[in-house]
Amino acid sequence: MSDREKEEQREQSEDLETIRKRIEALRRAIEYHNYRYYVLDDPVIPDSVYDALFRELVELEEKYPQFKTPDSPTQRVGGRPRDQFPKVRHPKPILSLANAFSEEELWAWYNRLRKLVPPDVKLAFVVEPKIDGLTIVLHYRDGRFVLGATRGDGIEGEDVTPNLRTIKQIPLRIPVPTEDGEPPDVEVPSYLVVRGEAYVRREDFEKFNEEQRRIGGRTFANPRNFAAGSIRQLDPSVTARRPLRVWIYQIVVVEGLSKPLTSHWEALQYLKKLGFPVNPHNKRFEDFAQVVDYCVHEGPELRRRLDYDIDGLVIKLDNMDLWDQLGYVGKDPRWAIAYKFSSEEAVTILEDIEVQVGRTGVLTPVAILKPVEIGGVTVTRATLHNEDYIIEKDIRIGDHVIVRRAGEVIPQVVRPLPELRTGDEKIWRMPKHCPVCGAEVVRPPGEVAYYCPNSSCPAQLIRSVQWFASKQAMDIEGLGLKVAEQLVREGLIKDLADIYYLKKEDLVRLPGWGEKKAEKLLRAIEESKNRPLWRLITGLGIKFVGQVTAQILAQRYRSIDALARATEEELAAIEGIGPKIARSIVMWFRQKQNQRVLEKLRKAGVKMSEEEEKEEGAKPLAGLTFVITGALSSMTREAVKTFIESLGGRVTNSVSRKTDYLIVGENPGSKLQKARELGIPTLTEEEFFRLVEERRAKAESGAKEVEKD
Ligand code: IVH
Repeated sequence: MSDREKEEQREQSEDLETIRKRIEALRRAIEYHNYRYYVLDDPVIPDSVYDALFRELVELEEKYPQFKTPDSPTQRVGGRPRDQFPKVRHPKPILSLANAFSEEELWAWYNRLRKLVPPDVKLAFVVEPKIDGLTIVLHYRDGRFVLGATRGDGIEGEDVTPNLRTIKQIPLRIPVPTEDGEPPDVEVPSYLVVRGEAYVRREDFEKFNEEQRRIGGRTFANPRNFAAGSIRQLDPSVTARRPLRVWIYQIVVVEGLSKPLTSHWEALQYLKKLGFPVNPHNKRFEDFAQVVDYCVHEGPELRRRLDYDIDGLVIKLDNMDLWDQLGYVGKDPRWAIAYKFSSEEAVTILEDIEVQVGRTGVLTPVAILKPVEIGGVTVTRATLHNEDYIIEKDIRIGDHVIVRRAGEVIPQVVRPLPELRTGDEKIWRMPKHCPVCGAEVVRPPGEVAYYCPNSSCPAQLIRSVQWFASKQAMDIEGLGLKVAEQLVREGLIKDLADIYYLKKEDLVRLPGWGEKKAEKLLRAIEESKNRPLWRLITGLGIKFVGQVTAQILAQRYRSIDALARATEEELAAIEGIGPKIARSIVMWFRQKQNQRVLEKLRKAGVKMSEEEEKEEGAKPLAGLTFVITGALSSMTREAVKTFIESLGGRVTNSVSRKTDYLIVGENPGSKLQKARELGIPTLTEEEFFRLVEERRAKAESGAKEVEKD
């Protein structure tokens, strides 16, 4: 070879070396930006720049096929459709979980565990959302994704590697590079097998089904089936078009680390550092009572808040060094348990639709259902909201319907199952007359509700009495719906104030009443005369005035008389009270009938005002209004609210100019944006507590000075 030829060859290989380096740099950058976009949900470059990088890589790999590798980000969708999935044996059994359905069962699990572990060993726990998806098992050798499988029977699964490669949240190489292209400071195992769940967000699921309906394609019953069906696709290019996501929650095998991992929490942090998507809602606890509290009280709320389905929480013993020692019962490890939420939906038959007249005259259609059990409660009635709802969902009498009961809310009919119709179902429309008094019903323009306009309609009075006496208002035991109905029908109650003029001799004459029952009710009524002012205001049943508004009004006006004198403008200027509420309050006090009721209540001795609270020193948060967004780590939202209120502050639901501070937790919502727009200061949890401390110190020193005076 001549010198020139040698020189040319050297130059060429130098060029090739530059190209190889460029290809590698592009891959690192793309992997990093994939991670930002798909795992962190926080992209740092516009899509157009990402696309340009991707295109450049595709072109270079086309031109220099010698540098093509299977773990390049360009190779996520590749390979031909297969005839079937090859079977793979898992390196270790992929276990399932025992279930707990109640607090008692959680404690039973803990107590068993406690007995098996020496008493001097402190136990900690990790609680994770139980994703309702499909288990996946991913293998990495020397940092490369080499195999992905389904769970199968736990011993053998199906090799779905080409399909899983298409999911951008799954790294093809670990650790995922950092922004500057340097490998992150984390030890890479020679062999790693992790377990996780593939799932689809509810919104993506709905969108997919909607589109399928439009084009007449196949739809799925729920996000779980959609996720499972998408992964078990013989053609990976189909999987690639499905909006699959994953959470990784478990190390199955790890080899080649200089120091073993001893806690599950540590393992999760390690997985995160390697670039896996690890659920931010995982939590660690050192006290089992807190675990139980979290599962029972916050679990259902978390379930509602997440944009994907979870069917429970998984509780894992954090002390990983104890796992092997504790062993298994059948396929279930002793060191973990699933706390399952009660099922919230059931199918039953809509037997009839009844119309209920509320205390404001609103007519509400109520579903009369063939009794069905949902989450341990037998449901026989459910709300159908209003006529528009029934029309929009095409709900007919006789239909099979899905009924939903979530937490404490009233059960509701979600939708009918038209595929089960026989043709005998009946279409329902709102009756033209009030079913109780026969007055012609009206539908005010712009409202979805129909009203009975007759203010002396007995149905309205019955509901008003029931509300007045309810736990939310005057809390009169023994005066529920049934008794209210009886007293109104018998003519003993003609307006709310008549409650306080009931006589024993009238009551004992009623069917089902004796001395004892009558005395008991009269005693409860007597006791209610001294309730705090806000309870009376709530009980009056002013439209739009619930407990919270009533408390604001009581605090501000201190007496019914002062409230009755308030003008619309004055009321509307109060934080938490808009013009609609203000108008409703003023209108209520203007009505002669209501004024008469108030007079009668006063004469009966019902407390109509209250003293200014006497405080030693001002309350530290007095006069401040807070809004909370996102999840707080140290307390539930309810607890923070009570805490703030006990210190004299207020908590409202939405950010407005009247808000003083926005407290920002994890995963804040749109309120943060709104606060920024309005220039409302924000506080982290820690800053909030610091503010409390500072103001407490100030309030105390203020009080001392007053004392000195
Ligand atoms: S741990 C031995 N953690 O729930 C460890 N499982 O019946 C057992 N699941 O099919 C699994 N989220 O696929 C674990 N954070 C989580 C989970 C989770 C969902 C699924 C899992 C399994 C089922 C348990």
